[in-house]
Order: sequence, then structure tokens, then C-alpha cells
Amino acid sequence: MKNIYSNIFSYNKKSLHKTILNLKKGNIVGLPTETVYGLAGNAYLKESIKKIYKLKNRPAINPLIVHFLDYSNAENDVFLNNNFFKLYKKFCPGPITFILKKKKESQIDSLVSAKLDTVAIRFPSHKIIRSILKSIDFPLAMPSANISSSISPVNAEDVADEFKRNINFILDGGKSKIGIESTVIDLTGKPTILRPGIISPKIINNVLKIKINIKKKSFRISSPGMLKRHYSPGIPVLLNQKTALGSNAFITIGKSHKSKKNYFNLSKKSDLKEAASNLYKTLRKIKKLKFKKIYVIKIPNIGPGIAINDRLKRAAKK
Ligand code: TXA
Ligand code: MG
Repeated sequence: MKNIYSNIFSYNKKSLHKTILNLKKGNIVGLPTETVYGLAGNAYLKESIKKIYKLKNRPAINPLIVHFLDYSNAENDVFLNNNFFKLYKKFCPGPITFILKKKKESQIDSLVSAKLDTVAIRFPSHKIIRSILKSIDFPLAMPSANISSSISPVNAEDVADEFKRNINFILDGGKSKIGIESTVIDLTGKPTILRPGIISPKIINNVLKIKINIKKKSFRISSPGMLKRHYSPGIPVLLNQKTALGSNAFITIGKSHKSKKNYFNLSKKSDLKEAASNLYKTLRKIKKLKFKKIYVIKIPNIGPGIAINDRLKRAAKK
């Protein structure tokens, strides 16, 4: 299918080859994953990492996630421990990121983890990203492909809208199915969830058979107080509302609400996984339609609802 964006490429043999060539040259490309789209570069190459921070306008103290094909590729870079293997066996490849101690001999560039002695690693399940990882001999540093503090992209077009002509290669892998970023869990000490995701604390408790911690404040270890506003649609967001005042946008869930032009239903069947997958798409749509404010119904704080509420709370911060 033809699209209006000259920097978006459909997935085929030729574009896959071009992606790999770009990455080998140290260029930055937009790539699909099952969670959200990412901005990818060679994690071993300082020049690439600098480009990522610059493109995103990301503070240098906010570290990036490194993406590998499987655990054997990560063995030289981080210390893999028992808790890691339990979770890896159950969820990988998939939407979970592990914080682990970095090895001295690791080739991962120091800027990737903002000079911390830990690295965030992830094994994405999206077919396209896996075929890329199979064809290169370095891991990919890949934050979500949005300008810092804006909404994460779930389509190739979202990435193009974020960066305009500042990025010249985006690989189209369709809508990201999960639609919300991976669960981030710190495994360097007592397992602690730093960012909730579709893999909920309860499911992780069941696998590790211990009660894990959930970090309440900013999940960014090295930067307390930073990132007050994140996932921001750029207009006021009001939480736990019963309805929207005037003609403002209303984000709802469940079937009790009628369809109205300013009503956006995350999941008619109140399925929280479906609601999470529709969240960023909906926030972006509301922004494009130029609504002045967003009212949001109370979302149950269980399972994927925990991740939805985490993102909404950040979006609502002034
Ligand atoms: O689903 C995802 O994780 C997506 C896709 C593209 O893989 N990536 C993503 O990356 O969400 P990013 O950079 O937007 O978010 C990574 C989060 C950041 O908030 C960062 O602070 C945290 O992970 N992080 C990275 N390295 C860390 C470390 N060594 N210690 C603590 N937190 C870390
Ligand atoms: Mg992000």
C-alpha cells in the first residue's frame, strides 16, 4: 500500500536489507515492536547512541533499553541471575524488560545506561524486529520512538508525525499489538517493578513465588523528580470523571456509555488488555481532533489497569 510519508517503508526483503545496512552504518531507524515503536541504533556505538538522545531530546540521565534476540546474546554484557531465568522462561520473547548488573567487559556504550552500572535488557517478540536482530551482530538500543515526554507511537505514521523529516527510515510493521511499553523490573536486588506493563505484578509474583516490590515514585532510579510530565497529549487530562463537561473529550470503558462524537471507548467489553492497546492511539486521536481537555473515567486498578493508570497519571500531571 502506498502511503503519503516518503520515510515509511513497507516490510519486505528489500526494506529489511536497507534497515540492516542503515543500522550497520550507525544510522537511526524507526522500528516496530509488539509494545510500541522504537528508535533503534547500535548499542555498541557511541555515535549512534548520541544520535538517539539528540533526536528524542532526551535528558542524558534517562537510560535506554538494549534489545537482544535471546539470552545467549546478552551473556557477555550483563550478569543473568536465577530470577531472570525464571521470568525469561515464562515471558520471553515478550513485553518485559530486566535491569541487571553490567559486566566489566561489556561492549554496551556507557551512554546507553547513563553511566549507571546496570543495563536494561529486553527480548522483543515482534517478527520483524526478531528478523533484524538475527541479521546483525550487535544489540539495539531502542527507546520508544517519540520526542521525550510525548505519547509513545503505536504505528509507523505516529513515528513520522513525531520526528517529521528528522528521521529518514521507518519500517512499517502495522499497529503494535500490545500498545503500551514493556514492564520494567529491576532484578539487581529484591525484584522491583519500576514501570508497570501488560505483565502485571500478580503474574510476576506467581512466577517468582515471592512478593515483589513496586516502585511508587519516579521509576527512574538516577533522576528523582524528573519526568513529572510524561506521555503528555499536550492538553489537560482529568482523571476519575463520570462524564465530560461541554464538548470536551471523554475517555470511557465498558458498554454503559452511548456513542457520542466526543466519547472514546477503550474497550466496550471492559477488557483491560484491549483498553491498554487502545490508550495511546486514542490519546493521539483526541489531540489531532483538537479537543481542549480530556476527561477520563475511573479505570479499575487491576492487571493491565495498573499500567493504564500509571500512564494516565503521568499524562495528567501539570
Ligand atoms: O516496550 C518498550 O520497552 C519500548 C520498546 C521500543 O521496546 N521501549 C521503551 O523505552 O519504552 P523507553 O526508553 O521509552 O523507556 C525505558 C525506560 C526508561 O524510563 C528508563 O528510565 C528505564 O527504562 N531504564 C532504562 N535503563 C535503566 C536502568 N539501567 N535502570 C533503571 N531504569 C532504566
Ligand atoms: Mg518512552
